[in-house]
Amino acid sequence: MRDDIERILIDEEIIERRLDHMAEEIERDFPAGTLVVIILLKGALVFAADLLRRVPRQLEIECLNVASYHGGMESSGNVDFLDRHFPEVKGRDVLLLDDILDTGRTIAAVSERLREEGANAVRTAVLLAKDKTRAADVEADYTGFEIGDEFVVGYGLDYQGRYRNLPYVGVLKRSAV
Ligand code: IMP
Ligand code: MG
Repeated sequence: MRDDIERILIDEEIIERRLDHMAEEIERDFPAGTLVVIILLKGALVFAADLLRRVPRQLEIECLNVASYHGGMESSGNVDFLDRHFPEVKGRDVLLLDDILDTGRTIAAVSERLREEGANAVRTAVLLAKDKTRAADVEADYTGFEIGDEFVVGYGLDYQGRYRNLPYVGVLKRSAV
């Protein structure tokens, strides 16, 4: 796998240090009480596992399958909810986790749905945010790292279903795509 990576953008140690701070901010900002955390699969899996173990409070963890990228490098434009059931969020404080904020369509669609379902406070945390003009007018409340507008893999992010288990965020070689 390492052979397919052109360069490492953010290494493991730097990610872990950043997660310590994000977890502190989250713990400080949310009012006391149990938080519902919604992990957007599969991209946010690695980020969520590392972040949530640093948050010292009661959490109820839910996962949601949405599709917007369909495995390639281009966003498809619409967001599909793939689960039969939506987590029970009525009157609850919700932390939504995703791997990366790109066009913003995923976070916008899921946040809207959470509000429709009656969630109380909804905050979002992403590991990465691309520095670009977004199709949907959203930003995350907690961002790990701002990156340029380029396609990245690793630490949960995939290219055609692969590279999610790389322990760092990197850019693929042209020969690998
Ligand atoms: P958005 O809806 O365009 O903000 O994109 C969100 C989804 O697209 C993310 O949850 C990722 O799954 C995927 N995505 C966006 N940019 C990248 C990337 O650079 N590498 C891998 N996946 C990406
Ligand atoms: Mg993805």
